[in-house]
Amino acid sequence: ETIEWDAEDAGKSGYDHYMRKEIHEQPTALRQCLRGRVDELTGTVTLEELDELESSSPVQFVACGTSYHAALFGATLLRDRGVPAQSFLASEYSTDRIPVDSSTLVVGVTQSGETADTMRALREANRAGAETVAVTNTVGSSAARECDHALYIRAGPEIGVAATKTFASQQVALTLLACRLSDGSNHDVIRALRDVPDQVQTVLDTSQATEIAAEYAESDAFFFIGRGYQYPVALEGALKLKEISYRHAEGFAAGELKHGPLALVTEETPVFALVTGDDERAHKTVSNVKEVEARDAPVVAVTDGQTDVERYADHVLEVPASNEIGAAITANVQLQLLSYWIAHRLGRSIDKPRHLAKSVTVE
Ligand code: G6P
Repeated sequence: ETIEWDAEDAGKSGYDHYMRKEIHEQPTALRQCLRGRVDELTGTVTLEELDELESSSPVQFVACGTSYHAALFGATLLRDRGVPAQSFLASEYSTDRIPVDSSTLVVGVTQSGETADTMRALREANRAGAETVAVTNTVGSSAARECDHALYIRAGPEIGVAATKTFASQQVALTLLACRLSDGSNHDVIRALRDVPDQVQTVLDTSQATEIAAEYAESDAFFFIGRGYQYPVALEGALKLKEISYRHAEGFAAGELKHGPLALVTEETPVFALVTGDDERAHKTVSNVKEVEARDAPVVAVTDGQTDVERYADHVLEVPASNEIGAAITANVQLQLLSYWIAHRLGRSIDKPRHLAKSVTVE
């Protein structure tokens, strides 16, 4: 008797796909990213790799794909802390001639550290005399070598073409970077980050995403809406679904719906609304949910229950109460699971979607 053994399957540690394994590795990946970098007692963040970093602002992020969504999140964080910051698609950065000089800090966010568009933008920034940082998963990568500094996200190898754990690790690493670049107390942020790995675990253990996927897998179009920290998550939720299910999906800033996309909303188009916290952003998104509900669209609220959005939703994907950083990480995990289970039901090639590559080394 012989035991069938396949090296590829062995790498998946019992999971059907690398993507699922990597989704479940997130609590560990996030702990690794935080290890030795935060001190809860003093509220300080120490990033040894950035000891020599001099400039602080303005900050320009350059990135592609999922990493661009992490960059949008990072820029929002910095602006909220009073640091001028903008995020650019790396493929547009050079051709748009974005003003950059020696006073600018340019941060390239790239999991692989090899993306050609991002590399070109970083080279241009260096040529213009900017100080540069690579936020990457890959030690010794082209981006790490090109930049003055490299901040490692420490997610471990990611095999699935669709980025999952590396996005969450980028969110955490960029939060740490924002602490490093801004003044003021970091106690609240550090406390929130400390809780995030367990909160992600809770989502992994309790998510109803399989049921929601069964309900909507046959839909032809999906919309994702969010504001503030949840806007990049809406974009990322849509991108993930496109990548692995080949379904049409779009992410919108919730306030933009009424300026066009609302024309597409019908009873056939599920709308996933990211509504966390209890601030102005959350309440405004609830108003947008009412607008789509009035057009008979099925609504799935991804929420921590701090608003009454559930009243207008057909289904709820719950996330633990946290601050905006934790909520953006856990809400995204719900959407990763949703995409995974939809693609699974549709029998897609989840780890290697058609036409896509893990790292794109051509412009
Ligand atoms: C490719 C991958 C995406 C990824 C993007 C940026 O398009 O398929 O998943 O987000 O490149 O990759 P990077 O390695 O620069 O983060």
